[in-house]
Amino acid sequence: MEISDSDKLNSKVLPILVHPHPNLRMVALPVEEFNSDLRQLALNLLHTMYEEGGIGLAATQVNVQLRILVIDLNGSWKAPQVFVNPVLKYTDGSQTLEEGCLSVPDYYDEVERPSHVKVTAYDVYGNEFEKEATGLEASCIQHEIDHLNGKLFVDYLSRLKQIRVRQKLRKARS
Ligand code: NI
Repeated sequence: MEISDSDKLNSKVLPILVHPHPNLRMVALPVEEFNSDLRQLALNLLHTMYEEGGIGLAATQVNVQLRILVIDLNGSWKAPQVFVNPVLKYTDGSQTLEEGCLSVPDYYDEVERPSHVKVTAYDVYGNEFEKEATGLEASCIQHEIDHLNGKLFVDYLSRLKQIRVRQKLRKARS
Protein backbone atom coordinates (compact mmCIF):
# COMPACT_ATOMS: atom_id res chain seq x y z
CA MET A 1 0.00 0.00 0.00
CA GLU A 2 1.06 3.60 -0.52
CA ILE A 3 2.14 5.21 2.75
CA SER A 4 2.36 8.98 3.08
CA ASP A 5 4.21 11.02 5.70
CA SER A 6 0.89 11.89 7.33
CA ASP A 7 0.05 8.16 7.53
CA LYS A 8 3.28 7.68 9.48
CA LEU A 9 2.49 10.63 11.79
CA ASN A 10 -1.05 9.40 12.36
CA SER A 11 -0.06 5.85 13.22
CA LYS A 12 0.69 4.79 16.74
CA VAL A 13 2.64 2.30 18.80
CA LEU A 14 0.48 -0.40 20.34
CA PRO A 15 1.35 -2.44 23.46
CA ILE A 16 2.68 -5.92 22.66
CA LEU A 17 1.53 -9.01 24.56
CA VAL A 18 4.35 -10.98 26.17
CA HIS A 19 4.56 -14.78 26.46
CA PRO A 20 2.87 -16.56 28.29
CA HIS A 21 -0.12 -14.20 27.83
CA PRO A 22 -3.09 -16.49 27.03
CA ASN A 23 -4.32 -14.30 24.15
CA LEU A 24 -1.15 -15.13 22.21
CA ARG A 25 -2.74 -18.60 21.92
CA MET A 26 -5.93 -17.42 20.23
CA VAL A 27 -6.60 -18.28 16.60
CA ALA A 28 -7.25 -15.04 14.72
CA LEU A 29 -10.38 -14.57 12.62
CA PRO A 30 -10.39 -13.84 8.88
CA VAL A 31 -10.68 -10.17 7.93
CA GLU A 32 -14.04 -9.59 6.25
CA GLU A 33 -14.17 -5.81 5.90
CA PHE A 34 -11.47 -4.02 3.95
CA ASN A 35 -12.12 -0.54 5.31
CA SER A 36 -10.17 2.44 6.69
CA ASP A 37 -9.97 0.81 10.13
CA LEU A 38 -8.10 -2.11 8.60
CA ARG A 39 -5.68 0.24 6.83
CA GLN A 40 -5.11 2.11 10.12
CA LEU A 41 -4.46 -1.19 11.91
CA ALA A 42 -1.84 -2.07 9.28
CA LEU A 43 -0.14 1.32 9.79
CA ASN A 44 -0.20 0.89 13.58
CA LEU A 45 1.28 -2.60 13.27
CA LEU A 46 4.07 -1.25 11.07
CA HIS A 47 4.77 1.67 13.40
CA THR A 48 4.84 -0.67 16.41
CA MET A 49 7.17 -3.12 14.65
CA TYR A 50 9.61 -0.35 13.68
CA GLU A 51 9.52 1.24 17.12
CA GLU A 52 10.34 -2.10 18.77
CA GLY A 53 13.00 -3.03 16.22
CA GLY A 54 11.26 -6.12 14.83
CA ILE A 55 11.15 -7.42 11.25
CA GLY A 56 7.64 -8.85 11.54
CA LEU A 57 4.51 -8.40 13.63
CA ALA A 58 1.12 -10.13 13.70
CA ALA A 59 -2.13 -8.55 14.94
CA THR A 60 -2.41 -11.29 17.58
CA GLN A 61 0.62 -9.76 19.30
CA VAL A 62 -1.20 -6.46 19.86
CA ASN A 63 -4.30 -8.32 21.11
CA VAL A 64 -6.29 -7.92 17.91
CA GLN A 65 -7.67 -11.26 16.77
CA LEU A 66 -7.66 -10.63 13.01
CA ARG A 67 -5.62 -12.36 10.32
CA ILE A 68 -3.23 -9.57 9.36
CA LEU A 69 0.55 -9.41 9.62
CA VAL A 70 3.29 -7.03 8.54
CA ILE A 71 6.96 -7.54 7.73
CA ASP A 72 9.90 -5.37 6.69
CA LEU A 73 13.39 -6.81 6.43
CA ASN A 74 14.96 -3.50 5.41
CA GLY A 75 14.32 -1.23 8.40
CA SER A 76 12.03 1.62 9.33
CA TRP A 77 9.42 2.31 6.58
CA LYS A 78 11.88 0.98 3.95
CA ALA A 79 10.02 -1.97 2.45
CA PRO A 80 6.76 -2.50 4.37
CA GLN A 81 4.68 -5.51 3.34
CA VAL A 82 1.16 -6.19 4.61
CA PHE A 83 -0.56 -9.58 4.37
CA VAL A 84 -4.27 -9.88 5.11
CA ASN A 85 -5.76 -13.40 5.40
CA PRO A 86 -2.45 -15.01 4.35
CA VAL A 87 -2.47 -18.68 3.30
CA LEU A 88 0.62 -20.85 2.80
CA LYS A 89 0.08 -22.47 -0.60
CA TYR A 90 3.38 -24.22 -1.09
CA THR A 91 6.51 -24.98 0.90
CA ASP A 92 9.78 -26.58 -0.11
CA GLY A 93 13.26 -27.21 1.25
CA SER A 94 14.50 -26.68 4.77
CA GLN A 95 16.60 -24.14 6.62
CA THR A 96 17.55 -23.48 10.22
CA LEU A 97 17.72 -19.81 11.19
CA GLU A 98 17.98 -17.99 14.49
CA GLU A 99 14.65 -16.38 15.40
CA GLY A 100 13.46 -13.92 17.99
CA CYS A 101 10.03 -12.48 18.75
CA LEU A 102 8.79 -9.20 20.23
CA SER A 103 6.44 -11.31 22.40
CA VAL A 104 9.40 -13.34 23.74
CA PRO A 105 11.82 -10.52 24.64
CA ASP A 106 15.58 -11.12 24.75
CA TYR A 107 15.42 -14.75 23.70
CA TYR A 108 16.78 -16.10 20.42
CA ASP A 109 17.06 -19.65 19.17
CA GLU A 110 17.30 -21.70 15.99
CA VAL A 111 14.16 -22.93 14.27
CA GLU A 112 13.97 -25.27 11.30
CA ARG A 113 11.38 -24.33 8.68
CA PRO A 114 10.81 -24.72 4.93
CA SER A 115 13.23 -22.47 3.02
CA HIS A 116 10.90 -21.63 0.14
CA VAL A 117 7.24 -20.63 0.45
CA LYS A 118 4.43 -19.37 -1.71
CA VAL A 119 1.73 -17.39 0.06
CA THR A 120 -1.52 -15.90 -1.16
CA ALA A 121 -2.95 -12.94 0.73
CA TYR A 122 -4.92 -9.72 0.29
CA ASP A 123 -3.76 -6.14 0.56
CA VAL A 124 -5.68 -3.71 2.81
CA TYR A 125 -7.96 -2.83 -0.12
CA GLY A 126 -9.02 -6.43 -0.71
CA ASN A 127 -6.86 -7.17 -3.75
CA GLU A 128 -5.47 -10.71 -3.75
CA PHE A 129 -1.78 -11.24 -4.47
CA GLU A 130 0.76 -14.04 -4.44
CA LYS A 131 4.14 -13.79 -2.76
CA GLU A 132 7.09 -16.12 -3.14
CA ALA A 133 9.82 -15.93 -0.49
CA THR A 134 13.06 -17.63 0.44
CA GLY A 135 15.66 -17.34 3.21
CA LEU A 136 14.99 -14.99 6.11
CA GLU A 137 11.84 -13.61 4.47
CA ALA A 138 10.37 -17.13 4.20
CA SER A 139 11.05 -17.87 7.89
CA CYS A 140 9.68 -14.47 8.90
CA ILE A 141 6.39 -14.94 7.03
CA GLN A 142 5.94 -18.44 8.50
CA HIS A 143 6.74 -17.15 12.02
CA GLU A 144 4.05 -14.45 11.66
CA ILE A 145 1.44 -16.82 10.19
CA ASP A 146 2.09 -19.07 13.20
CA HIS A 147 1.14 -16.14 15.47
CA LEU A 148 -2.24 -15.89 13.72
CA ASN A 149 -2.75 -19.55 14.61
CA GLY A 150 -1.80 -19.06 18.26
CA LYS A 151 1.65 -20.55 17.86
CA LEU A 152 5.02 -19.14 19.03
CA PHE A 153 8.52 -19.97 17.78
CA VAL A 154 9.44 -21.32 21.22
CA ASP A 155 6.87 -24.10 20.64
CA TYR A 156 9.40 -25.68 18.26
CA LEU A 157 12.02 -25.93 21.01
CA SER A 158 12.58 -28.81 23.44
CA ARG A 159 10.40 -29.02 26.57
CA LEU A 160 13.37 -28.12 28.74
CA LYS A 161 14.14 -25.00 26.71
CA GLN A 162 10.48 -23.97 26.80
CA ILE A 163 10.48 -24.18 30.61
CA ARG A 164 13.69 -22.14 30.77
CA VAL A 165 12.23 -19.44 28.51
CA ARG A 166 9.15 -19.10 30.72
CA GLN A 167 11.31 -18.91 33.86
CA LYS A 168 13.51 -16.27 32.29
CA LEU A 169 10.53 -14.11 31.27
CA ARG A 170 8.93 -14.48 34.70
CA LYS A 171 12.15 -13.35 36.34
CA ALA A 172 12.45 -10.39 33.94
CA ARG A 173 8.95 -9.22 34.93
CA SER A 174 9.38 -9.50 38.69
NI1 NI B 1 6.93 -13.28 16.83
